[in-house]
Amino acid sequence: MSESTGQEGRRFPAPEQLAAHANVGPDVYAQAESDRLAFWETQARRLTWSQEWDQVLDWSNPPFAKWFVGGKLNVAYNCVDRHVEDGHGEQVAYHWEGEPGDTRTITYAQLQDDVCRAANALLELGVQAGDRVAIYMPMIPEAVVAMLACARIGAVHMVVFGGFSADALASRITDSGAVLVITSDGGYRRGAPSALKPAVDDAVGRTDSVRNVLVVRRTQQDVEWTEGRDLWWHDVVDRQSAEHTPEAFDAEHPLYIMYTSGTTASPKGILHTSGGYLTQVAYSHWASFDLKPDDDVFWTSADIGWVTGHSYIVYGPLANRATSIMYEGTPETPHRGRWFEIIEKYKVTIMYTAPTVIRTFMKWGEDIPAKFDLSSLRVLGSVGEPINPEAWLWYHEHIGGGRCPIVDTWWQTETGAHMINPLPGVTDLKPGSAQTPFPGISAKVVDDEGNELGDDSTGLLVLTEPWPSMLRTIWGDDDRYVDTYWSRFGKEVYFAGDGAKKDDDGDIWLLGRVDDVMNVSGHRISTTEVESSLVAHPTVAEAAVVGASDPTTGQGIVAFVILRGAAEDSGDELVQQLRNHVAKDIGPIAKPRQIMVVQELPKTRSGKIMRRLLRDIAENRELGDVTTLTDSSVMNLIKDKLPASS
Ligand code: WT7
Repeated sequence: MSESTGQEGRRFPAPEQLAAHANVGPDVYAQAESDRLAFWETQARRLTWSQEWDQVLDWSNPPFAKWFVGGKLNVAYNCVDRHVEDGHGEQVAYHWEGEPGDTRTITYAQLQDDVCRAANALLELGVQAGDRVAIYMPMIPEAVVAMLACARIGAVHMVVFGGFSADALASRITDSGAVLVITSDGGYRRGAPSALKPAVDDAVGRTDSVRNVLVVRRTQQDVEWTEGRDLWWHDVVDRQSAEHTPEAFDAEHPLYIMYTSGTTASPKGILHTSGGYLTQVAYSHWASFDLKPDDDVFWTSADIGWVTGHSYIVYGPLANRATSIMYEGTPETPHRGRWFEIIEKYKVTIMYTAPTVIRTFMKWGEDIPAKFDLSSLRVLGSVGEPINPEAWLWYHEHIGGGRCPIVDTWWQTETGAHMINPLPGVTDLKPGSAQTPFPGISAKVVDDEGNELGDDSTGLLVLTEPWPSMLRTIWGDDDRYVDTYWSRFGKEVYFAGDGAKKDDDGDIWLLGRVDDVMNVSGHRISTTEVESSLVAHPTVAEAAVVGASDPTTGQGIVAFVILRGAAEDSGDELVQQLRNHVAKDIGPIAKPRQIMVVQELPKTRSGKIMRRLLRDIAENRELGDVTTLTDSSVMNLIKDKLPASS
């Protein structure tokens, strides 16, 4: 975290006008505190249930939680149909903007028809409640329709980010046992069509659970076709009836699996269920952003392939009957003002994005946003990594016009929804700090032994009470679920994997991961995953990967590799080849920023690679303590090999 502004101490009180009309007031914390379960029960009533629960929380077998036990609901009905029934069918659910400039406006009534047709199509293809459906798509409305169609019939969606490789897709299909893949020919990125279907063909060819591939036509690219397996969306979905009666599922019925990187090479399938998840994403979307469904135009800039897209493009906004923006492409296409143009065009009132994007805009210069009318904005959000005070202040001034509160939201794929963040209209904001546990959430900072720390101290972040949108397990691996999150401090304390500091006022500052997980542009990447990809290359004998701080992406991936004897030639060409190998193997976001060929790696006597020292090198710092190394001259050897500039 940068300390150069000297402005971290500055407070930004809630704007008066906003506070006067805010959805939640300061009393919300005391309310939630006085009876946490009653508080969440009240929030669950935002949804329409076909059967009320008998028990709010069953925590008799921690860490396996059940929320709203005995309750039944249909998630898609809650996101779509009920708003149409309430007379809001003509309200826009999504203003969709394609990268080439094509647009679609989708009302709640249209969304209902589309979701019903897609649900009927899935049923025709033999998809049943509980079956897994892989979704590998660009940011087009059919991606949302596909997710909701699954939810509607009780199938479990498993969205894979379109930037991930065929390998990544194949391993996720295999682990989840998906029976259907929904994809498209491609999507538009940086001004050109980018194909998706070839990766699906490759992945599906290596798995044995998939019966069909349903393909949306988006880019008109040529696609290979496997007769009997592949089907066009427009052939199968368009001819279906727009009538479908939603069935109510148990509150704990699985809703989706989302894979995320952990400290081992194999990603974890985070499982989210229905009633508790929808309750917390709906409530948090409404409270954190002060969402007014009749007036606001809400925009989360994430991709649907991440949890942010699931919770705050799809489920939260739709459950709240919001009008949202959905944008297919990149911020610089066809020009660097594209986002601001979209804000101006649709009069966006709430914008939710990531610090890496803000820092990119900073780099491009404030004269770009200054050319557009951004006066519709009233609340700004941030997610993915700590937002450094400079970026916070820039966002506040140059995008928010000095008038919009910035809501820095700390949460994770596992938590499903916001967990630590200020509330607009309530909290005096402190640039750089996520500040306060969300109402109904219990977050603490503890030492290595699990003792709670007071103000003005640094330790590990834990969550000490279950919450409605918590993950329920890791798909197919209850033991890993317990080991990863609930064993460090006992079965009732969730270990988040983040370091945190409490300041003098008790406000929480997130300090980044304490495990071997990197955060690149707000995306979680495992050092081990990149290392295994590198050693899978025939020229590499050993690899160690670290996240080094990067002014734009938060962290950049830096790899140290030892080559096999025969491949001693360590030229630039090989380094490029290795970088591309990782990009192809995992996905472009995992492409190392830098690869250094070294003779040895620093290891402790027990054989553990000392990443701390490699990070010192990657960040061009004085080396820390080297006394636990087997051979401290290793570090000199590595430093000698480095190009002068690094
Ligand atoms: C990790 C979770 C939550 C959706 C996007 C990422 C880091 C996330 C913040 C924030 C500081 C943050 C943490 C966390 N993180 N938001 N506002 N301040 N750190 O989801 O891929 O599951 O990653 O991202 O390190 O553990 P994810």
